[in-house]
Amino acid sequence: MPNVAVIGAQWGDEGKGKVVDWLASRADVVVRFQGGHNAGHTLVVGEQTYKLSLLPSGLVRGKLGIIGNGVVIDPEALLAEIDRVRAQGLAVGPDTLRIADNAPLILPLHAALDRAREAARGARQIGTTGRGIGPAYEDKVARRAIRIADLAEPDTLADKLDELLLHHNTLLRGLGAETFEKRDLLDRLLALAPQLLPFAEPVWERLDEARRAGRRILFEGAQAVMLDVDHGTYPFVTSSNTVAATAASGAGIGPAAVGFVLGIAKAYCTRVGAGPFPTELSDATGTLLGDRGREFGTVTGRRRRCGWFDAALVRQAVKVGGIQGLALTKLDVLDGLPELKIGVGYRLDGATVRRLPAAPRAQAAAEPVYETMEGWSGSTRGARSWADLPAQAVKYVRRIEELVEAPVTLLSTSPERDDTILMRDPFEG
Ligand code: IMP
Repeated sequence: MPNVAVIGAQWGDEGKGKVVDWLASRADVVVRFQGGHNAGHTLVVGEQTYKLSLLPSGLVRGKLGIIGNGVVIDPEALLAEIDRVRAQGLAVGPDTLRIADNAPLILPLHAALDRAREAARGARQIGTTGRGIGPAYEDKVARRAIRIADLAEPDTLADKLDELLLHHNTLLRGLGAETFEKRDLLDRLLALAPQLLPFAEPVWERLDEARRAGRRILFEGAQAVMLDVDHGTYPFVTSSNTVAATAASGAGIGPAAVGFVLGIAKAYCTRVGAGPFPTELSDATGTLLGDRGREFGTVTGRRRRCGWFDAALVRQAVKVGGIQGLALTKLDVLDGLPELKIGVGYRLDGATVRRLPAAPRAQAAAEPVYETMEGWSGSTRGARSWADLPAQAVKYVRRIEELVEAPVTLLSTSPERDDTILMRDPFEG
């Protein structure tokens, strides 16, 4: 029985929440493997709306949730989120949630540095979520991160804080921001330790057992391939690898166990934060897509930039992300538009290319090359089979499949969980 990894194929916010929730109901274990509380999933289950940032979505379905070592964890944000969902009636405890003991922590100084640096960048801001994600990953690779397991060793914590503060206070002072006191941070961490340590364990062992027992594992990606720190629109990216390969290293399991890779893409395209967006629409159609698609960030509340579906970009995400099937979401947002455009490449220095270049100036200069299609007058909203779709909508989806070189295996036609057309069950490989 293969496992499934779900990743975003554009710049995030593709509607992963609904798809992951649907898959989670059929999985035994749900694993987060990268990112942190910069992610935001909204799950509607019956009367309840859950807003999750760090917790694996499967918890809502009563499945075992695992936070892997590839995630950066803000302990206060995590405990607040646990309290919030508990207040909504969800049972979250060490029996339902396990956290990798080697996962690095996000401390208040990381968020302070993230924000101070963004402020200092002025017009060149990346538009980060300001939650300390970048600085926390920097500390991880610089080998000075505080990890969950360190909370059990007060002496280790004190020593590590010395090194951390030497680095961070120097930077914060230079940026004119407030510095941090070792005693305050140490007291804070020691107070959090008894609340966090009961969740901590070497999760790779549990995942190994689950794999050997033939349990279904769902790897839940956050952000998306175009925000990947290597493969995205660098430097306008997040600080983790978001491709499916990260599910293995970010959870502690072999690459063969990752299973079927499902990429999620909207039927159009959105982006929050700054950075290149070749098919962006700054006209009335862009506003219409934003209004109809309710394009506001779950975490930041910021209005998302909107544009046409960029097949060249998604094709690139399919290739580098290892995507084997695509879940296309929010097709209904395009209902009634007389004409649709699909980005099929970029015009650069007089030539047409099918990939976004790596150099920032070239990225910003890439002019989209469009293919125009007729829209459809009927509604796709709530469709549950191909037969329910207007013929022109089917044509649009088929053209996307050809251009991105991956099959559309799932089509989501409204926020409701059951308004889904399934072409192929990802758990069946
Ligand atoms: P950071 O991850 O907070 O460092 O932000 C870096 C970039 O990634 C910014 O452009 C953010 O807007 C974007 N970003 C981070 N998390 C998400 C997400 O969950 N959805 C969409 N964009 C995100």
